[in-house]
Amino acid sequence: MKNLLSMEHLTIEEIHHILDLAQAFENGEASSLARTHHVANLFFEPSTRTKTSFEMAERKIGCTVIPFDAGFSSVTKGETMYDTVKTLEMIGLDAVVIRATEDEYYNELLSGINVAVINAGDGAGQHPSQSLLDLYTIKKEFGKFEGLNITIAGDISHSRVAKSNAVALQRLGANVHFLCPEEWAGSFEAHHSWDDLIEISDVIMLLRVQHERHKVNKSFSKESYHQEYGLTIEREQQMKESAIIMHPAPVNRDVEIASELVECERSRIFEQVRNGVYTRMAIIETILKERE
Ligand code: CP
Repeated sequence: MKNLLSMEHLTIEEIHHILDLAQAFENGEASSLARTHHVANLFFEPSTRTKTSFEMAERKIGCTVIPFDAGFSSVTKGETMYDTVKTLEMIGLDAVVIRATEDEYYNELLSGINVAVINAGDGAGQHPSQSLLDLYTIKKEFGKFEGLNITIAGDISHSRVAKSNAVALQRLGANVHFLCPEEWAGSFEAHHSWDDLIEISDVIMLLRVQHERHKVNKSFSKESYHQEYGLTIEREQQMKESAIIMHPAPVNRDVEIASELVECERSRIFEQVRNGVYTRMAIIETILKERE
């Protein structure tokens, strides 16, 4: 695995390798990298967990993290993504983790760049490291993917998490259901009511309403969205006893999920964040190992 750009590029074997290595790291296994690698995190969109979690993961496997502040970089003077990454490569970096607003920004890096590229989110495209940490969370919980009913609910068409997870979970044998207002279904065949989903779901994965990606403002109030499409306290009581709640976060409390449910017994929302560090250690280790 030279880069991590999209879940569509990963084989099932590569997915399982990363999940197994994440588990090994969680169990206390040390990195087996033979040398110190230099990495930088280039975030052109806001982030709390992905950026911090990548940096923690990089440090835990012994990388040197070179600071890069997108807002004070020469990108603000018009430098292209290609020239930026090529420059960092010439300075001596081994890998860059990038989040950017454009879908598939990485296409311009596919030839001429030798530094490893890890996609930390491309516009409304993909978020593969989030998907892998979600898979890790589900595997830890159920030990399998085959036959699980997983409902992804919210702003589907604007969500890179929904797209990455839809691809991965279906390939791994899960039954993936989508729930959203008709306008946000995009190319997905989606339900528009919880009726057929709430009692059968093993995992309910909620998504943030991504106002920043909407071209036309939706007419929902927060309250009406919550009542129609959110996980309310009443709906949570209809869930299977063994079912879990997930959300990539940040969470809009009382919009996609009732605030009281964010840390309820079946919620894995903060556990996902913790799992993200082990999963990102596994991603970076796997990619850097191939460069040694
Ligand atoms: N889940 C996620 O990508 O969160 P951040 O935007 O905080 O990185």
